[in-house]
Amino acid sequence: MKIALGSDHGGFQLKETIKGFLDSLGMEYKDYGTINEDSVDYPDFALDVAKAVAAGEYNKGILVCGTGIGVGITANKVSGIRAAICGDVFSAKASREHNDANILSLGQRVIGPGLALEIVKAWLTTEFAGGRHQRRIDKISDIEKEYS
Ligand code: RB5
Repeated sequence: MKIALGSDHGGFQLKETIKGFLDSLGMEYKDYGTINEDSVDYPDFALDVAKAVAAGEYNKGILVCGTGIGVGITANKVSGIRAAICGDVFSAKASREHNDANILSLGQRVIGPGLALEIVKAWLTTEFAGGRHQRRIDKISDIEKEYS
């Protein structure tokens, strides 16, 4: 599995922590930045990651900002992206099982690194359940087409 990573300055430290975690698992990833804690605009990084995932260059993406909200809102503007803003393990699992989320959005100022890594682990290892949930995903895609 190939992961696209991105953050703004508010999520930089947690992105680095997640990179260390992915390294320990031997997982392949690309870091789309940002590269330090200098102030930047989160839509720039969220867009790069969302485009790479939507294009199929990466299977999944993980975005981090201060709250997870800005990068999540941005990523969800890209056709084919289902970004889930998660602050707990239950939601992270459900976002895969029910929503087939292809981007996980985290808030560095909201959750600590320990919980964040538990969320990442759960999110990366939970499969989409399909069935009735696929019908609902298809409806989301229809809405996306109607309003794009
Ligand atoms: C940056 O200060 C902050 O606004 C950003 O990281 C994020 O929380 C936005 O949603």
